Amino acid sequence: MVLEIFVGLFVEQMLSAGLGQGRGALTKRREANALVDETMARVREELPEGPDANSIIDALSRQLRAPAADLPHLPAQPLEALRLQLEPLLVQPFTDGRDTGAQILDRLGLDLDRLVAMTHSALLASARQLVLEQGGLPEFVRQGFEQWVRDQLAEIRRHLVAGNGASGAVDTLVGPPELMVGRQEELARLEQLSVQPEGTGGSSVVLTLHGMGGVGKTTLASAFAARISERFPDGRLWVDFHGFTPGEEPRSTDDVLAGLLRQVGHPPDVQTRNLAEKSELWRAWLADRAVLLVLDNALSEHRVEPLLPGASSRSLVLVTSRKRLDGLGTRRSVDVDTFSTAAAISLLRRYLPDHGEHPSDEPLTEISELCGHLPLALCAVGPLLDTVQPADLIDRMHRAAYPLQDLDDAERPVRAAFEVSYQHLGHRQQQSMRLCGAHPGPDFDAASLAALWGIQRSDAAVRIAELRKYSLLVTVDHVGRRFAVHDLFLPYVRELAAV
Ligand SMILES: Nc1ncnc2c1ncn2[C@@H]1O[C@H](COP(=O)(O)OP(=O)(O)OP(=O)(O)O)[C@@H](O)[C@H]1O
Ligand SMILES: [Mg+2]
Repeated sequence: MVLEIFVGLFVEQMLSAGLGQGRGALTKRREANALVDETMARVREELPEGPDANSIIDALSRQLRAPAADLPHLPAQPLEALRLQLEPLLVQPFTDGRDTGAQILDRLGLDLDRLVAMTHSALLASARQLVLEQGGLPEFVRQGFEQWVRDQLAEIRRHLVAGNGASGAVDTLVGPPELMVGRQEELARLEQLSVQPEGTGGSSVVLTLHGMGGVGKTTLASAFAARISERFPDGRLWVDFHGFTPGEEPRSTDDVLAGLLRQVGHPPDVQTRNLAEKSELWRAWLADRAVLLVLDNALSEHRVEPLLPGASSRSLVLVTSRKRLDGLGTRRSVDVDTFSTAAAISLLRRYLPDHGEHPSDEPLTEISELCGHLPLALCAVGPLLDTVQPADLIDRMHRAAYPLQDLDDAERPVRAAFEVSYQHLGHRQQQSMRLCGAHPGPDFDAASLAALWGIQRSDAAVRIAELRKYSLLVTVDHVGRRFAVHDLFLPYVRELAAV
């Protein structure tokens, strides 16, 4: 019953967005057309037989299929949106070329209002039927529906928080991800680690998320922040440090602090204070408050430290970085690894077209492997499955010099993710990276690198540790301390090694 009410409301939303265009709900024209056909059948039942009914149905059906983008704006009310969409019917040329829509409607004993009302209830009934009678929600509706439910819940939560007297609290969190697969274990671990220490004294918590570029740190952080946000009524703040963003300079702590202080109500001239003063003001504001602060994409401990709360705060800080921020001294840290095969397959399945036979897990497992289970690569390769058969994609990826070669939409972001990390390494670490690329693989330990490089084993071990700190090596065997360059990064490392 609750589902039915939600679905009813959701369908209303789709209608108000012009058959879902613009809200990404009815993204697939095929389903949208099926909805229109079903609706037309219902409207036709209401009309007397005859040529007038046929021409109005034809015109109505054409008009409903017209892109909603043609409308000057999309009103919030479904009926009003529909009225706007159908208004041109009154003047547009009809099949017989003589009568206007208004005249035909008149002969049928209808006017535009009546036609809008009939169409609206027919659309609603058809969409409900489509949603509820297909043995569950069809994929195209489900995605839009889930997002819509999340939006509604976030809205309700905001009202509740406001009702608790916390209205006016700053909230700059980015919303939870539209699409998220897997990560149940990581979310559970974060939940555990986020519990604030009991007792007297300080209770603020600093949590860190580490992992290689494109592995899903930001996605996980936004999902987790949305989950726990109501525990922080005094403010929920999201900062992107752009530490490793291709094409962006990392933001300075000073700049970030000035922005945060202004957001929480300090006057603009706070910018003129020096870094230490800003940091003090910030800590003073956080003291005794419960604030959720997400510091995404941080470059180093050094840039984050001045933003951390003092002992008396009840705040939680979640920091994400490609670099392990061991220097922050927090033991509450989660490594974000590449996807499990199950999560990767589940992601790829989202991209398969609805029509035709659905492939077994086998080819999807192979594509996941070719993408190194890296979310960034899977999200970029996945859309190809809409038109390319999995077997053809596999063949193409196998025949290339490396799997992503010339798959531009995938290669560009993955290459950029590697290159930015590489650029942030010191001279010696860059050299180590290139030397790792020269190892014949598939994996190595300190001893084999030492032999290859002609250095002491202990030196090789330290160099490995430095690269791991920047998430540039994958751990193949924790106990045996064996590592590798991620498959997708290897071609780029080898390119550098060859220079
Ligand atoms: N759990 C997930 N489910 C679905 N898609 C995901 C998931 N995790 C990541 N992605 C997708 O993978 C891509 C990379 O993810 P994200 O930006 O979170 O990585 P990141 O680790 O923050 O990368 P960077 O180090 O560059 O900041 C995004 O397109 C994101 O939507
Ligand atoms: Mg990120």
